[in-house]
Amino acid sequence: MPLAVAPGLLLLLLLLASGARGALVVSVPASPVRAQPGSDLLLGCHFSVGGPVDMQALVVQWKLGDRLVAEFDEVLSYPRAGARLFLDELRVGNASLLLPRVGGADAGLYTCFVIHSPSRESQQLELRVEAPPRVSVSGTVVRAGERRNVTCNVSHFYPKSVIVTWLRDKQVVGGPETPHAQLGPDGLYSATSVLQLVPSISLADANYSCQVQHVALGAPIQELFRLSVLSQPRLTLLQPLVTLEGQVILQCLVRGYHPPEITVQWLRDGKPLLTMESSPTKEADGSFALRSSYILDRPESNAQANFACHVQHPALSTPLESTATWTVPTCPRLWIWIWILLVIVLILLALLVWIMYQLLNISMSPIRAWECWPKGGVTVLLCGVEGRLRDTDSLAWSSLRLGKVLGPGQPGELSALKPEQRHVVTWRRRLGLGRQQLMSVLTVQTPCNEETFSCTFRPSTRDVQQRQITIPGVAAGGPPLDGDTSVF
Ligand SMILES: *[C@@H]1O[C@H](CO)[C@@H](O)[C@H](O)[C@H]1NC(C)=O
Ligand SMILES: *[C@@H]1O[C@H](CO)[C@@H](O)[C@H](O)[C@H]1NC(C)=O
Ligand SMILES: *[C@@H]1O[C@H](CO)[C@@H](O)[C@H](O)[C@H]1NC(C)=O
Ligand SMILES: *[C@@H]1O[C@H](CO)[C@@H](O)[C@H](O)[C@H]1NC(C)=O
Repeated sequence: MPLAVAPGLLLLLLLLASGARGALVVSVPASPVRAQPGSDLLLGCHFSVGGPVDMQALVVQWKLGDRLVAEFDEVLSYPRAGARLFLDELRVGNASLLLPRVGGADAGLYTCFVIHSPSRESQQLELRVEAPPRVSVSGTVVRAGERRNVTCNVSHFYPKSVIVTWLRDKQVVGGPETPHAQLGPDGLYSATSVLQLVPSISLADANYSCQVQHVALGAPIQELFRLSVLSQPRLTLLQPLVTLEGQVILQCLVRGYHPPEITVQWLRDGKPLLTMESSPTKEADGSFALRSSYILDRPESNAQANFACHVQHPALSTPLESTATWTVPTCPRLWIWIWILLVIVLILLALLVWIMYQLLNISMSPIRAWECWPKGGVTVLLCGVEGRLRDTDSLAWSSLRLGKVLGPGQPGELSALKPEQRHVVTWRRRLGLGRQQLMSVLTVQTPCNEETFSCTFRPSTRDVQQRQITIPGVAAGGPPLDGDTSVF
């Protein structure tokens, strides 16, 4: 390593060389001189004799403490292996010493001793063989709750002694210690210090440092670092929510993870879906939680599909996924209930309408006929009406045969018959809810020929209703069981 000589010193040397003849001046660079182990070092030493150097009168000695390192006294000799002085340079006042591959043994106080008879002069300089350490920290990626060693690697330093202190937020958490140092092939030492810890997520925010003290350093080196605390996410598939609109919301709760970077993906039968995500929230323990939802618009069309919530996170080991599955039921329950309710309401409504109709309706039953024994004797006709009747409403019997006098199709009143030929009994029965039954029985002598009787309901307000029955007569063998009906 060539040594720079200060310009001021050179000027002084030149002044002395040209001026003060006979005065010996020796100069060395400022102490201490620092050298890295293994490097080649040039220890500077210059002298001036105030004129040309007389090699016969010159002796140069370099000593380390009391030990001779190199000497020129007519000939050059080097007790320290590899050391060198330069004859040509000695002639011009340059007594610099080359020390190749400097080691720890070369450190110490050197004396550059010059004799130029009769003058003699010497200067001292200190050589320090040192190398400042390089510091690196490894093993900072840790899993929450798992015991772990964080390593501080201190390397390339000389001399051997180094002090390592571990700090967390400026508090000492490890050391100070002097780790065992190992000598490398390059003549430099290296050492490692270990901080054992069981990390929790809350330590992820702490500022750690590995502090290294060494003689080659003015101030300690601080290697700052933070722990990358990994915590695996826990996955919970929540019970799906069904909205009133019939949408189904699938929800996936992801909790307890760290760091916050995470990818949540919904899959339907393995195919990725568009996902709605809430932003992560920080829990009290420093971990993060997230709720991811997927909305199914038409759940009935998704029957039998498998929905999976898929998470990727640095804390998850390969293949970096956790899957939970939910199968859509064939038909959402709420929908069924709405339909059932609708059908029940419709049935009730129909029933109500029917009841109202039954209450308000007035129905007239067909006339029924019986022939009483002996055959061809008496025929009994029954006519009835039912509904919301008034007390003034009545039933009246008539006969088409009697009406022939009045005109075709116009029935005549039975009052035209003799009383022994007809007999009418009418009665009324109250059925409740304002309903009444009005019944009328007509007993007539069975006619000889076919005859049509009609029963007419005469309400005071509503339309007239009429029922007819045709009896075949004695000649034809008696009345039919039921009559035909017609309504006017
Ligand atoms: C002294 O000699 C050494 C070795 O040759 C050389 O490297 C150095 O530059 C010389 N110093 C000066 C001031 O010339
Ligand atoms: C951590 O370091 C200690 C001491 O250096 C050692 O005994 C232990 O085995 C190491 N643990 C791990 C997990 O490397
Ligand atoms: C320490 O660091 C040096 C250089 O950075 C490297 O060569 C060496 O292998 C490291 N040692 C350990 C134990 O990590
Ligand atoms: C760690 O250092 C950063 C800045 O370097 C600071 O903002 C933060 O508050 C420190 N954390 C703690 C826990 O002191």
